[in-house]
Amino acid sequence: MEAEIKRFLEETAKTKLKKYHDFLLEKLATETREHGKSEEWDAILESIENSENPIKTEGDLLSIGDGKTDYSNALIKLKPWRKGPLVVGSTIIETEWRSNWKWERIKQQGIDLSEKFVLDIGAGNGYYLFRMLEAGAKVALGIDPTILFNYQFAAMQKLSSKNNAFLLPLRSEHLPAFKIFDVVFCLGVLYHRRSPIDQLKELLSFLKPKGKLVLETLILPEKENREILIPKDTYAKMSNVWFIPSKKVLQIMLQRSGFSQIEVVDVTTTSTKEQRSTEWMNFQSLSDFLDPKDENKTVEGYPAPTRALVIAEKP
Ligand SMILES: C[S@@+](CC[C@H](N)C(=O)[O-])C[C@H]1O[C@@H](n2cnc3c(N)ncnc32)[C@H](O)[C@@H]1O
Repeated sequence: MEAEIKRFLEETAKTKLKKYHDFLLEKLATETREHGKSEEWDAILESIENSENPIKTEGDLLSIGDGKTDYSNALIKLKPWRKGPLVVGSTIIETEWRSNWKWERIKQQGIDLSEKFVLDIGAGNGYYLFRMLEAGAKVALGIDPTILFNYQFAAMQKLSSKNNAFLLPLRSEHLPAFKIFDVVFCLGVLYHRRSPIDQLKELLSFLKPKGKLVLETLILPEKENREILIPKDTYAKMSNVWFIPSKKVLQIMLQRSGFSQIEVVDVTTTSTKEQRSTEWMNFQSLSDFLDPKDENKTVEGYPAPTRALVIAEKP
């Protein structure tokens, strides 16, 4: 993982990100702690030999590595794999999420990424960073505090030719007010933050004027007829879901945080085909979080997960 930080510093030294290197290094030093499994994961990374292969999409799969070498012994030790699906070397990784479906919904909006600086908040293992590069982005920087996902990304990078996708183990609240990004993505993170307006204001501060936000978050289905749900305890067995607004309230939150041109471009109820347990993520998944007698409800009796995709602009 250290190698990934070094690569970020080297490859962005001649870009507008250079100015923020010292700030980010300071945050990496003060805000990240050694994970209990870091030694084990470092050894797994070591076992993967560097090679240079272009990252490409092959049908539904994001293809990493040479398509021939078997890395499954190493990859299996980096479970759970949530974002994909991937083929790494000769191994198909059926991830928990069919993230390509979410990416298709984003792609349909025709947001121009060519030669753009893009930031992905809560980037997971970096799956979307690679899709952003494929769509023409000049630099795709992601952050995600989950250390395992940073190791998964580092493993994928060891098998890939030089590219401008970078992932740092930081949280949104650790970042400076960059004011330089053309497009900021924040997919599936807002409801995990206790203070949504602060999160939205942070996103605004990362964008340059006229920059675009692509936000995806849980909302209440239209028929719910209420403005906000604050789960009493867990929501779909997750203890870190703090609020689910109606579409209207979400739009007001964005407006109040300083965004303009706010458009809800897609509303999709998550299906058990899109999010499910697999061999590569063998913990519980969506079907275990829904009421077995009524798939429109979570086990707690709340409306089942429905997600809005919103595009907004920094004035
Ligand atoms: C539900 S996942 C969404 C992943 C991906 N963006 C997607 O849409 O498929 C939420 C991710 O946000 C990350 N996360 C949680 N709190 C965060 C924070 N404060 N800043 C940045 N990322 C955060 C988690 O580690 C996790 O990988």
